[in-house]
This record gives sequence, structure tokens and C-alpha cells, in this order.
Amino acid sequence: MPKLIVVTRSGEEREVIGEAGLSVMEVIREAGFDELLALCGGCCSCATCHVHVDPEFAAKLPAMTEDENDLLESSSERDETSRLSCQIRFDDSLDGLKVRIAAED
Ligand code: FES
Repeated sequence: MPKLIVVTRSGEEREVIGEAGLSVMEVIREAGFDELLALCGGCCSCATCHVHVDPEFAAKLPAMTEDENDLLESSSERDETSRLSCQIRFDDSLDGLKVRIAAED
């Protein structure tokens, strides 16, 4: 099963094993990182699952939808590495993916 490296807001880094087919948000939540709120449950309507993705993986990520882009636009923490983790399906092609949980808006 693919590995995901999660960096918390305080800078703690932990490697977790994720179930392929879940979203990156679900993998993070199931691993017990409560600071990623994911309030809408993955419906792409809250932006509380905002993460910064290691640029090395940028080319492997699914394209951003207009909805995701619009939601991220509302975040003052947005930068070029920003994604909504509920919109990234986790699978073997993303083995070793590193994400940092974005600061709260
Ligand atoms: S969980 Fe709400 S947008 Fe991702």
C-alpha cells in the first residue's frame, strides 16, 4: 500500500500507509490528524482540507477543477503548491507523496 508523508502545522512529520482509492484527505483523517478539519466530508465545498503538496509530485496530481480553484482562491494561505486534499485520489502512483497541512485561515 502506498505511503503518505504528512507534515503537521507544528512541523511534525509522520509517514502513514494509505489505502489506495481513498482521497488524500481521507488517508490523513484516518491516520488521526484532527487538525485537517475536512468539514464538508470531501464535497469540495469547504476548503478546510487545504494542503501544500511537495512540488516533486505536482505533475502526478489530477488536474484542478474550477470548483477547487475557486475555493482555494478564498484562502489567504494559498500558494502554487496548494491543493484540496479531498480532490486527490491516493494510489500507488503517489507512493511517497508529501503534504503539509496548510495553516488555518
Ligand atoms: S473536505 Fe471540504 S473541500 Fe475538501
